[in-house]
Amino acid sequence: MGNVTVIGAQWGDEGKGKIVDWLASRADVVVRFQGGHNAGHTLVVGDNVYKLSLLPSGIVTGTPSVIGNGVVLDPWALNAEVEKLRGQGVRIEPDVLMIAETCPLILPIHRDLDAMREDASGAGKIGTTRRGIGPAYEDKVGRRAIRVCDLAHLDELDPLLDRLCAHHDHLRAGFGEPAVDRERLKADLAEIADFVLQFARPVWRDLDEAKRRGRRILFEGAQGVLLDVDHGTYPFVTSSNTVAGTTGSGSGMGPGAAGFVLGIVKAYTTRVGSGPFPTELEDEVGQRLGERGHEFGTVTGRRRRCGWFDAVLVKQSAAVSGITGIALTKIDVLDGMDRVKICTGYKIGDTVYDYLPPHAADQARATPIYEEMDGWQGTTAGARSWADLPAQAIKYVRRIEELIRCPVALVSTSPDRDDTILVSDPFSA
Ligand code: GDP
Ligand code: IMO
Ligand code: MG
Repeated sequence: MGNVTVIGAQWGDEGKGKIVDWLASRADVVVRFQGGHNAGHTLVVGDNVYKLSLLPSGIVTGTPSVIGNGVVLDPWALNAEVEKLRGQGVRIEPDVLMIAETCPLILPIHRDLDAMREDASGAGKIGTTRRGIGPAYEDKVGRRAIRVCDLAHLDELDPLLDRLCAHHDHLRAGFGEPAVDRERLKADLAEIADFVLQFARPVWRDLDEAKRRGRRILFEGAQGVLLDVDHGTYPFVTSSNTVAGTTGSGSGMGPGAAGFVLGIVKAYTTRVGSGPFPTELEDEVGQRLGERGHEFGTVTGRRRRCGWFDAVLVKQSAAVSGITGIALTKIDVLDGMDRVKICTGYKIGDTVYDYLPPHAADQARATPIYEEMDGWQGTTAGARSWADLPAQAIKYVRRIEELIRCPVALVSTSPDRDDTILVSDPFSA
């Protein structure tokens, strides 16, 4: 029995939260290893809907949950989310939530900077979640971050604030904004410190112990491979590595931690924010996908752009992130369509590509080459076994497997936890 890593194989919102929640009851610990509260993971359990941004999805099943060092952590957002989930009856105490002491903090100045840059970018804006993710990662690699462990040493915060504020004051001046209100920032940090510190631990030791005892670790990725800062549609990406290789560095577990890499793949394609999207549909078909799939962002409420399944991109994602098998989600959204299309290549000018070239201008000009299949008139919604799927829906799933060169391990047929078809168990693969 090995570990399992869940990552998004497209532009995020593939249904990672649902699948992590489904797998969590078989895991001993769930670990977030990158990203921050830009994520929005929705879990549906009967009549209850849980929306998680920063907390690992394992928290809902009471599975011990770790926020690893690779995550950027907004203490105030954490506080609000913990309160919200507690209000829904979820128990969140230091024995179920553990936070790496080395997590860099997202501060109000990061949110400010994210917004200032987006507002100043006009048509070139990235369409970020404005949560300060990018600026916080910049300060981490720039060695100016305030980290969780600094909250336990408030009397030694001044030199760190000097360094951080000097940098931000220059940037803010460039936008015509006043300098950082340093005393207020210091007071805010002092106020929130104890709340965060109750969960802070050397989680690398806990995870090492779990490994030695043969415990099953479930890693929960945020965003998706096409938003990866190295492998995604740069610059329209997030600021972390979203691929499975980040599990080791983002948790302190070494390179062998990932185990079975389960790529979560939506049966069509969506994207929220700016950037190239070759199979985007700006017609009534795209509209229908958006309506049937309730494609509105969990975090920002923005409408998600929708389009046909892009097998070229998912094949590329699977290769660059080492996906072992996939969970195909939201196939029910395609129920009742006469015809369905799958993108199998692109044309850019006169050249045909079987991958997405890296330059943003080429990506923007790529027009999809499609193959078409009959849709299915029966329903997949709520199916819990392979035998419940219409024959033509099975054909669609099999064709996707062939094109992306990865087997299907799970199929999800509704938002509800239990409407999931197990094809092969990732934990025992
Ligand atoms: P994540 O960010 O990858 O966790 O995905 P989100 O939670 O942001 O978006 C996925 C949305 O689709 C959520 O509202 C889920 O409840 C819903 N969902 C997940 N799986 C399925 C499915 O198989 N069918 C349908 N119709 N909805 C699903
Ligand atoms: P989950 O985990 C979809 C997108 C933003 C924007 C870009 C950069 O729910 O799948 P950022 O705030 O990270 O600097 O924004 O990345 N983005 C997501 N899109 N799902 C997400 O997370 C996302 N997190 C960030 O819309 O285009
Ligand atoms: Mg989401």
